[in-house]
Amino acid sequence: MARTQVAIIGAGPSGLLLSQLLHLHGIDSVVLERQSRDHVEGRIRAGVLEQGTVDLLTMAKVDHRLQRERLVHDGFALGFAGRSFRVDLKGLTGTGVSVYGQTEVTKDLMDARAAARSPPIFEAGNVGIAGFDGDHPTVRYTHEGRSHELVCDYIIGCDGYHGVCRRSVPAALIQTFERVYPFGWLGILADVPPASHELVYSNHPRGFAMCSMRSLTRSRYYVQCGLEEPVDAWPDSRFWDELRLRLPVDVAEAVVTGPSIEKSIAPLRSFVVEPLRFGRLFLVGDAAHIVPPTGAKGLNLAAADVRILYRALVERFRTGRTHLLDRYSDQVLRRIWMAERFSWWFTSVTHKFSDDPFGHRLQLAELDYLTGSTAALTSLAENYVGLPFSPD
Ligand code: APR
Ligand code: PHB
Repeated sequence: MARTQVAIIGAGPSGLLLSQLLHLHGIDSVVLERQSRDHVEGRIRAGVLEQGTVDLLTMAKVDHRLQRERLVHDGFALGFAGRSFRVDLKGLTGTGVSVYGQTEVTKDLMDARAAARSPPIFEAGNVGIAGFDGDHPTVRYTHEGRSHELVCDYIIGCDGYHGVCRRSVPAALIQTFERVYPFGWLGILADVPPASHELVYSNHPRGFAMCSMRSLTRSRYYVQCGLEEPVDAWPDSRFWDELRLRLPVDVAEAVVTGPSIEKSIAPLRSFVVEPLRFGRLFLVGDAAHIVPPTGAKGLNLAAADVRILYRALVERFRTGRTHLLDRYSDQVLRRIWMAERFSWWFTSVTHKFSDDPFGHRLQLAELDYLTGSTAALTSLAENYVGLPFSPD
């Protein structure tokens, strides 16, 4: 029977970053991932990093390529009612954000774990966790046709929204909070130069649209779409036409079209479970919470969880004290709910909700007020760049 200090379920950004930080502090972990490395690295996800996330990746010694290749953005544009308004993040908060794909973050973390000769166990099947309500948690899994059991001190559920860890907690011990939105995001990736040097979020009567990027030669665009629509209903030509209809004119005219290299529809939901600790089991990242992508909080919130948990585990293994572990759930939930609120608000003020002319006028009034108020803009900006971490 194999043994480790920390068993981590899931080799997404949360699990990889936690494993890397623990390794740098001399703490042994095993990462169990049900998919292959190629599958995990092939996922197209978000692309905006808060400075706090960049700092954590620096602490994890995986920021070399990030520092070379990231695009630093000091603001973004809001389009509405035929207008385009720049939100000056740097001027309002003193900092901006970094554009660097989550796919690249994952690859950098995978490389670091491989270099440390401690790569995840990929294609680990039938993962089951037990004993986390006592002092000797165990993890069972199959790999290459054989069954394995791992004894550990702690189990960390970094296995995302569809993972096994949250589902292993007795229903009576966990409370779920959820809001499902009546629309999705149709996103494409194309090797064309971005239409704007910064991100553009557009509220339009036809629906929300957004311009992002992965580099100066690779663009990422989104349009709000119905949940019942198949991706096949959106050939590239329809996507480009609809995107340009929904963007501010100057941005629409700058859109360079080209063949999509990835195209998918993602549903939007707000989701949180409480608490995030169950004895020797801790939930992190998407296993614990989901935000609509509008506020670009998903990866940054996962990184914030990891930042708090790894320090708590270091304290525990170095001193035996569990003071920070005991505070983990309450501490991360404060930040989670603030990010949930911001992501819900930014979604509610930019997206089309059914045929609700009154609601649309309220959105335009809020955006009109927002763009004329330094106080309101500062609130938007400080949430977007990432709220400061509370002192330990
Ligand atoms: N056994 C092993 N691995 C599992 C299991 C399981 N039963 N269930 C899920 N996994 C793996 C998934 O294959 C995935 O690689 O757990 C990993 C979870 O990774 P993510 O879903 O990326 O979650 P997280 O690491 O918390 O990263 C959050 O990813 O989805 C985005 O928007 C989200 O940007 C945010 C970030
Ligand atoms: C992206 O680049 O995919 C992206 C950026 C910002 C968002 C959402 C998605 O708010």
